[in-house]
Amino acid sequence: MGSRPGNAYQKSTFDLMISELDRANGIITEFLSLAQTKRTELKSQNLNDILNNLYPLLQADTFTQNKQICFIPGEIPYLELNVNEITQLVLNLTRNGLEAMPERGCLNVKSYVEDITVVLEIADEGCGIPPENLRLIGTPFFTTKDSGTGLGLATCYNIAESHNAKIDIDSSSMSIVNVDS
Ligand SMILES: Nc1ncnc2c1ncn2[C@@H]1O[C@H](COP(=O)(O)OP(=O)(O)OP(=O)(O)O)[C@@H](O)[C@H]1O
Ligand SMILES: [Mg+2]
Repeated sequence: MGSRPGNAYQKSTFDLMISELDRANGIITEFLSLAQTKRTELKSQNLNDILNNLYPLLQADTFTQNKQICFIPGEIPYLELNVNEITQLVLNLTRNGLEAMPERGCLNVKSYVEDITVVLEIADEGCGIPPENLRLIGTPFFTTKDSGTGLGLATCYNIAESHNAKIDIDSSSMSIVNVDS
């Protein structure tokens, strides 16, 4: 409708409608993925390969925001993973880290082995999470952002559970989100 000549004067309204529909679609898709009961299909693979594939995308996001990102892959064993879900988890956590940081801040992504656990550590130099908000983290629709939906971390907790992994949040002077598997 927006491309019809007679409607040209309303083009910006149509564009807005489309972008809002896309946003609503994104929210619904993410919400439905939280409720999915089907078993996650896991395959033996290396977490570093997933991170390496994602890195250019994360770098582009980071640089356009005038921030920095550093990825330090450690020597880790293969794990039973679902690529789509782990990609989503990494995107959600890194996006949160970037959103929390001012310009020139640095996001550190590391993988390593601690005791008998593989750790994915995502640390930002942002504002941190106030203690009163910590217990609400992961509750669907909890957000402190004007345009946030509050589904990012709830999705991460779901993905961690389906991978038998655990999410630790460490937020004091510096905010660190760890995913152990
Ligand atoms: N790295 C972080 N630093 C500071 N606060 C954070 C961080 N990660 C999450 N939070 C806090 O937790 C809240 C919930 O995060 P979550 O990712 O679930 O939702 P969101 O980022 O607000 O919205 P979206 O659904 O778009 O991800 C955020 O609004 C923010 O207050
Ligand atoms: Mg988020």
